[in-house]
Amino acid sequence: RRLERANNIGDLRRLARRRLPRPIFDYIDGGADDEVTLQRNQSAFSTYELVPDVLTDVSSIRTATSLFGQPTTLPLMLAPTGLTRMFHQEAELAVARAAGKHGLLYSLSTLGTTRLEALAQACAGPKVFQIYIFKDRGLTAEFVARCKAAGFDGLALTVDTPVAGNRERDRLNGLSLPPRLTLRSMLSFAAHPSWSIPALSGSKFDLANVSHRVDALAGGPMSLFDYIGAQFDRSLTWADVEWLAREWGGPLSIKGVMTREDAKRAIGSGATGVMISNHGGRQLDGAPAPVDQIAAVREALGDGPDVICDGGIRRGSDIVKACALGASGCSIGRPYLYGLAAGGEAGVDRALTLLREEFERTLTLAGVNSVNHLARRHVRRVPR
Ligand code: FNR
Repeated sequence: RRLERANNIGDLRRLARRRLPRPIFDYIDGGADDEVTLQRNQSAFSTYELVPDVLTDVSSIRTATSLFGQPTTLPLMLAPTGLTRMFHQEAELAVARAAGKHGLLYSLSTLGTTRLEALAQACAGPKVFQIYIFKDRGLTAEFVARCKAAGFDGLALTVDTPVAGNRERDRLNGLSLPPRLTLRSMLSFAAHPSWSIPALSGSKFDLANVSHRVDALAGGPMSLFDYIGAQFDRSLTWADVEWLAREWGGPLSIKGVMTREDAKRAIGSGATGVMISNHGGRQLDGAPAPVDQIAAVREALGDGPDVICDGGIRRGSDIVKACALGASGCSIGRPYLYGLAAGGEAGVDRALTLLREEFERTLTLAGVNSVNHLARRHVRRVPR
């Protein structure tokens, strides 16, 4: 009932904030440095306005399209997010089930807490695996082989994390690796037993997709997180993308592309699409808002490749604006995580239902009866 009373993603965020201990909520909600990019991602959408057509027969509205070559009921997909079990014990499976029910693509993070094989078995719908090119190319090649065997439909290669972003809320909360819990955060955990008890007892919390590698480091002193941290490779270039594209041979999107030049390089290196993303404002603070880069990237790539806008989407109307600017679709992270934290699978379902209703209503009010008919003339900068 609490979930039904949530009228928008902002309401789900408030429910999540109430249910989660502060350090966990801040981990989801926060961004890098001064969080300028985090805020811009969202506020940039309000610098565009929607210009409606009227009397166009909007008695039925077509919202279906395709992403990563897969059919989707909306130009919307679920972005990869690590450590999902921290937010709700149902973890990735709850999110994937809700996505499947809505006919939307789900993305599993390399740093997820459910094995990709288990996820694939439980998730009948289209799915993408978010991959990194690690220093140990063998580990990346192993992921490619496992994704093929498990039936993943696409890969998203994240390229905006040569080092971890500076998340100051996490530092303040002692949510670092290893954890240095402060008195304030310990009190917050104690005050949220409905989260803390299931999360800290029963469910085994580990990075299910990479832990076997760490176990294989026979008795080495490295922790799982040290291993992952040490595996980020700052020497990556477009040649590595060519290698991955050959290795995989299927739909591949480069996640973290920001400019028209890099978008062209991505396609030239064998990718089939790009995700315009600044990692939800969690990496380079000061990076542009993804929505502001859509038009240039689409112009550079022409009609074929997927251009996915990732970051700051909180309303169905944001998706309409992104598509009118030339995006094939949008990808959301925090909106479904707020839902998950607020109420597990039902909460994710609520988030997706809200965005679907908003998207359909906005299209109808804009006089556009098919997502394929959305055009540049339907969106413009707010005049000064
Ligand atoms: C992320 N994101 C992310 N991206 C990625 O490629 N691999 C990952 O493991 C994660 N993990 C992660 C955890 C959390 C808690 C968040 C909020 C985000 C980034 C994510 O895929 C996406 O780019 C952003 O979340 C999009 O911005 P919004 O929708 O959260 O504003």
